[in-house]
Amino acid sequence: MSDTNKKGRIFSGVQPTGNLHLGNYLGAIKNWVAYQNEFESIFCVVDLHAITVPQDPAALRQSTREVAASLIASGIDVEQAILFNQSQVSSHTELAWIFNCVARLGWLNRMTQFKEKAGKNRENATVGLYGYPVLMAADILAYKATHVPVGDDQKQHLELTRDIATAFNSMFETDFFPLPEPQIQETAARVMSLRDGSAKMSKSAESDMSRINLTDDADLIAQKIKKAKSDADVLPSESAGLSERPEARNLVGIYAGLSGQSEAAILQEFGGQGFGAFKPALAELATAVIAPISEEMRRLLGDIGEIDNQLAKGAARADAIARPILDEVKEIVGFVR
Ligand code: TYM
Repeated sequence: MSDTNKKGRIFSGVQPTGNLHLGNYLGAIKNWVAYQNEFESIFCVVDLHAITVPQDPAALRQSTREVAASLIASGIDVEQAILFNQSQVSSHTELAWIFNCVARLGWLNRMTQFKEKAGKNRENATVGLYGYPVLMAADILAYKATHVPVGDDQKQHLELTRDIATAFNSMFETDFFPLPEPQIQETAARVMSLRDGSAKMSKSAESDMSRINLTDDADLIAQKIKKAKSDADVLPSESAGLSERPEARNLVGIYAGLSGQSEAAILQEFGGQGFGAFKPALAELATAVIAPISEEMRRLLGDIGEIDNQLAKGAARADAIARPILDEVKEIVGFVR
């Protein structure tokens, strides 16, 4: 049963495949924190998704704990919101199988992230990587989530989730699954690499200088922003002036995401000034936001037993919601129970 005092139920996830970066924070996590009291909230460290590409087992375990710690350090309140790692709740995989028998090859063939991740050697990609978006649909629908706060890069996966929910409902002549709404912010929904304004900031980019990690200290943040690609012009006074300047637009967007100010307000303040003035202001702002998070994360990682304990508690709470939903799905599909 969802909590009737809330606006709906949120589900969102993040992969434990390395440190979280500013793109994850501004595109998703900051909004999870903002929404967690308004909505009933379920946040998941998606370790099953992580193994769609090879992972070192010890590194995966470490990364799962680090990501959980950085979510708590970023402000996820585990007394209110549910936080757990995906592999501890078996409804995700069970529902994913049922959805594998609903989703069509043609739909998955259109997924751009599979094409990007599989690269040229598609024959060698795992079946799990191909089915990645089906598991994502199962994550969301296992809880009948109504809202999904994500960065812009997950838009296509959410459309597929809605297609799967619609197809299931129509196959079994039911209105069982809701169609979840993506919650994508206008600001910083797609934070770009600091080295290339046309590439997304990502954990997998080779150069660490391309991203700001939530674990970076003040010196490193300042260094990365100082070296960030920009251009020789001064900042414009209005947004239109950024249209052909991807790097400048990205840095202003990051400033907007971190400060909560609009792009227009920032350009009013910095218009006419060069990056020599803007970058130090941005570095100071980024440090003010990130330093307390990384400090708290380090403190939490001092007690791994407590993190594991929180994840197990979250998994039990998640299971209590997902289990009865899965039971109903099994009934609808026609399984003898
Ligand atoms: P992941 O781990 O790649 O990213 C976690 C969240 O961070 C957002 N994000 C960004 N936002 C803005 N700019 C960027 N450069 C940037 N990079 C990442 C992502 O959009 C995401 O919201 N498939 C998902 C995890 C997932 C999930 C789910 C999400 C699994 N099941 C169910 C929502 C609902 C992923 O790989 O996220």
